[in-house]
Amino acid sequence: MDVLIVGGGGREHALAWKLNQSPRIDKLYIAPGNGGTRALCENVAIDAMDFGNLAKFVQEKKIDLTVVGPDDPLASGIVDFFQSRGLRIFGPSKDAAQIEASKVFSKQLMAKAKIPTAEFKVFNTPTEALAYVRLRGVPIVIKAKGLALGKGVYVCRTMAEVEVALDELMVKRIHKDSGDEVVVEEFLDGPEVSIHALSDGLHFLLFPPAQDHKPALDGDKGKNTGGMGTIAPVPWMTPEMMQNIEYSVLRPTLETMKKSGTLFTGLLFPGIKMTVEGPKVLEFNARFGDPEAQVYMRLLGSDLLDLLEACIDQKLDGLGSFVKWNRGFAVNIVIASGGYPDAYEKGFPITGIEEAEKIEGVVVFHAGTKVEKGQLVTTGGRVLGVSAVGDTLQQALGSAYEAVGRINFKGMQFRRDIGAKALIQ
Ligand code: AMP
Ligand code: GLY
Repeated sequence: MDVLIVGGGGREHALAWKLNQSPRIDKLYIAPGNGGTRALCENVAIDAMDFGNLAKFVQEKKIDLTVVGPDDPLASGIVDFFQSRGLRIFGPSKDAAQIEASKVFSKQLMAKAKIPTAEFKVFNTPTEALAYVRLRGVPIVIKAKGLALGKGVYVCRTMAEVEVALDELMVKRIHKDSGDEVVVEEFLDGPEVSIHALSDGLHFLLFPPAQDHKPALDGDKGKNTGGMGTIAPVPWMTPEMMQNIEYSVLRPTLETMKKSGTLFTGLLFPGIKMTVEGPKVLEFNARFGDPEAQVYMRLLGSDLLDLLEACIDQKLDGLGSFVKWNRGFAVNIVIASGGYPDAYEKGFPITGIEEAEKIEGVVVFHAGTKVEKGQLVTTGGRVLGVSAVGDTLQQALGSAYEAVGRINFKGMQFRRDIGAKALIQ
């Protein structure tokens, strides 16, 4: 089979790395890809949102399957666009992807399915939002209503932080239209886990739990980012906790979507807070997490292509017991550009990746990189994802941080405490 991956971040590099190991794949393409994916597949210079040219490329090259990584094309209906042209594609339809793209859709669904989540209210002026926050008090959470690459969320512990959030989103409009309306949400306390399940609409296959680290700085300080590092599995998550999530979140969600005629086919990723009252949903994503995908691809022992196809063909039922997960742990440390998630400079040469990958168990996935005049340079906020596997979480973290120490570019920043919380929990 020939396969096209849509996207160009660390998640897509990891999916390409894994799919490249499938004996059933002849040729792998990625659009647009990045400086690292070139070694595995053919980078195609078409934007992930340019559905017309993507579909044309797939038809011309007779590509058998397209796999979509990012949220934007899913929310804009790439799956419907391809399917209406008879093209095979992995991901949820535009309607189903609303579970991520529309807060109102996902909150209404959770109310209907009785899924535990935070209370919230929507505002379209900063004055009204501020008045409401004064009434409720801090801590409180302010979110841009639209998609903002995970960066439109402000967890505010003081009124001063609330004012900054409302000013950035609604007055300065740093995420543009995404800040037309804000969601003010009850603060949920407790450790956070990322749950991934492949769904064929009727059945699902649960992955081991992962934990991301969203804030930019050590000790969970600083602004929220797309994710600065991930571990999987999460050592303190018990099978009972996973079963609770399965029964209180995944089953009712997929069941309710099925009943309303919007089957969810693809990867469903609820972000969950393990509160003292039990698991509560922070949000749903309709795609693999990034960097979560980077650790899952290191842990998955089975052929990813088989799983993606089973989703599309509604053949997931009973597959769970055949899916192999490697023993031990996988971790990922994101190396970002200095300044991220705010403004940052680009174009700095990157060195040391080859040296880093000499360490046993280490694979470096690229995100914001490109090759310019034969030199690998930075071109995005999150630049690299350094992944490692190990028998224990400590071992995996040790290898990953040793590898990070061998990599260099001007201004690089990374968190030094990925996995630390899980080790002491
Ligand atoms: P989101 O993109 O909605 O997942 O939010 C990004 C991050 O902000 C989450 O991963 C949480 O760490 C934090 N967050 C979002 N909503 C809440 C909430 N209601 N209570 C506490 N933390 C939250
Ligand atoms: N790492 C969190 C996300 O992909 O949304």
